[in-house]
Order: sequence, then structure tokens, then C-alpha cells
Amino acid sequence: MATAEHLKALLKSHTAGDDDLFRSVALQIAAHEATKGNGRLAEELRDLVAKARRGQQPTGSPRAVPIARPTGELAGLVLASYPAIRLSEMVIADGVRSRIEDVISQQHQRDLLRSHGLSPKRKLLLVGPAGCGKTMTASVLASECQLPLLFVQLHALITKYMGETAAKLHLIFDAMAETRGVYLFDEFDAIGATRAAGNDIGEIRRVLNSFLQFLERDDSESLIVAATNFVGMLDDALFRRFDDVITYEPPNRTLVKRLVRNRLSAFDLGDVKWVDIGLASRGLSHAEVVRACDDAARDAVMSRQGIVTHESLVTAIKSRGGMRPSRRRKKTKE
Ligand SMILES: Nc1ncnc2c1ncn2[C@@H]1O[C@H](COP(=O)(O)OP(=O)(O)OP(=O)(O)O)[C@@H](O)[C@H]1O
Ligand SMILES: [Mg+2]
Repeated sequence: MATAEHLKALLKSHTAGDDDLFRSVALQIAAHEATKGNGRLAEELRDLVAKARRGQQPTGSPRAVPIARPTGELAGLVLASYPAIRLSEMVIADGVRSRIEDVISQQHQRDLLRSHGLSPKRKLLLVGPAGCGKTMTASVLASECQLPLLFVQLHALITKYMGETAAKLHLIFDAMAETRGVYLFDEFDAIGATRAAGNDIGEIRRVLNSFLQFLERDDSESLIVAATNFVGMLDDALFRRFDDVITYEPPNRTLVKRLVRNRLSAFDLGDVKWVDIGLASRGLSHAEVVRACDDAARDAVMSRQGIVTHESLVTAIKSRGGMRPSRRRKKTKE
């Protein structure tokens, strides 16, 4: 159950007509229930809040987000989008979920935090193997905080000339102060390579140092999310600069089952033997399991039976495992 503090906060926000605060407290109650294992109630509360939020939008405008359309040189450096994906669509370990929920609720209550001289967590480093939901998390954060997602194009950022790269970083960090959003530096290892990696790192190191300085100085209201699947290449100094480092892992058996159920919710799964599915999908990423589900769904549709057979799902999962290159991690750009 919600605590007495929660109930008082709900009533106060209602009498003050503060809808943002009201929804934010309701989300906190949902987070509180989730940590106590009442996942279904938490989900229902979040859905009710989402519906209430949608109900307030003027007709014809599905989401009230500020328009962020990068122009000029910035247009080549960041891609703007407005994801509509919910945290409830992610299948993740409880620990990871509650870290993400924390970030979201701190964003919703940032005025409250600031009134106490505190700032919400907003500089995040997401670490983990390919296909486990790092990029998806950035989209979820943008969607749940009703912010645009600004995808920084690292290949356009890193040029041969250090002066140019620094100037481009400058543009991006200026944009963060001007347009509140979720700024995603994906495949961050491209600039986050360790300082001790070898000889040919002068350029990368200068870019990284420059990034760190900008990151440290930044006091905007935007969220800065860096994602990498190559933790070994990251520098200690980097970890200190982030408000939180969230680590992702491939799904365990329970999460695989949930992932398959979510992805194939339109199909009859009565034939599926979950223990075998858990074994077959060991070590696969979320993305690989999702793709295997899509393969099995295609089979089910083509066979016009409407059921995903155990056999077809296991075959799809095993063949996804067989497709993967021997290495688990992506190669890092030097
Ligand atoms: N935790 C998850 N829950 C549900 N679906 C997921 C999850 N993680 C990944 N997926 C599925 O896999 C796709 C790819 O995931 P995503 O791009 O977020 O992985 P990533 O961790 O960023 O990988 P990479 O290191 O290759 O960039 C998602 O679009 C989604 O369909
Ligand atoms: Mg990614």
C-alpha cells in the first residue's frame, strides 16, 4: 500500500491543482509497489497515469513535447525523434527497472529537488552487451519524460581535426542547454576508449577529454545518456562523471519467458515447454530472442494455424544463436 506520505502528497497536489505533481506522486506509488513485488498493481497505476496524461492533451496532438528540430550545422550532428515506447514494454531485471524508474520520477519532480538545492540524476552511462536494451532505454526515458530524443551522430562528430570536433561538441552541449531533451551518445566506446589503449590514441583521447570537460561543466536540464557495450574500453575517469551507471545483462530464463510472452501475445503458446526454451536461449540477447519470436510468428502465420509450436520456437531460437558471430561484443572503433 502507498505510504501515508504518498497519500498526503496526492491530496496536496490535488487541492493545489498541480496535475504534474499529482501524476508524479502516483508514479512514485507505482514504483514503491513494484519494489514490494506488486508488479501488476504498479503496472495498472502507470497505465492509469498514462491515460490521464493522454486525456489532457488537446485533440489532434498525441504528445505534448516541445518541437526540437535541429537546424544548421546541428542538423548533421543530431537526429531528433519523439519515441512513444513505455517502460512497461521493456523486459529487464528488477534492479535495472527501478534505476530507470528513479531517473524518470526524479525528472518529474525536478522542481521539488531543485527547491531543496538538489538536481535530478541526468547524466547516465548504460553499459552491457549488444541487444539488451540500452538504446531502447534512451527512447523510454524520452517517452516517459515527454522529451525529444536527440541522437548524437558520433561519426559526424569525430573528425580528423580536433578543433572541429571540439567545436561540434560545443554545439551539441549548447543545444542541451537550449532544448531540453534526452541526448544519446550511442556506441559511446567510439569516443570513450581508454587512455591506456596504445599509441594511436592521441586523437581519441583528446576527443574524450574534451567530452569529459563538457560533461562536467554541463548544468542544463537535459538528460545525457551514453551507451556502450564495451565496458573494458572505458576509462575510470568517465565513470566518476556520470550520476549513475546502469549495467545490462542478457535475459535469464524468467525474462526470456516474459519476453516471448510479450512478443507473441497474439498467439497460442500452449504447446511451448518453457524449460527447453530457457535452455535453448542461454546467452542470447533480448534482441536475438525477439527476432527468434518474429521468425516463429511468421511460421505460425504462414502455416495458418495461429499457434506457435514448441518445435518452431526452439528451432528459431537455436538458429538465432547459430547466426551470431563468435564474439559476444562488438568490435570497438579504434
Ligand atoms: N530489455 C528489453 N526488453 C524488450 N525488448 C528488448 C530489450 N532489449 C532489447 N530489446 C529488443 O531488441 C531491440 C534492440 O535493442 P537495443 O537497440 O536497445 O539494444 P542495445 O543494448 O542498444 O544494443 P547495441 O549495443 O547493439 O546498441 C529493441 O529494439 C527491442 O526490440
Ligand atoms: Mg544500442
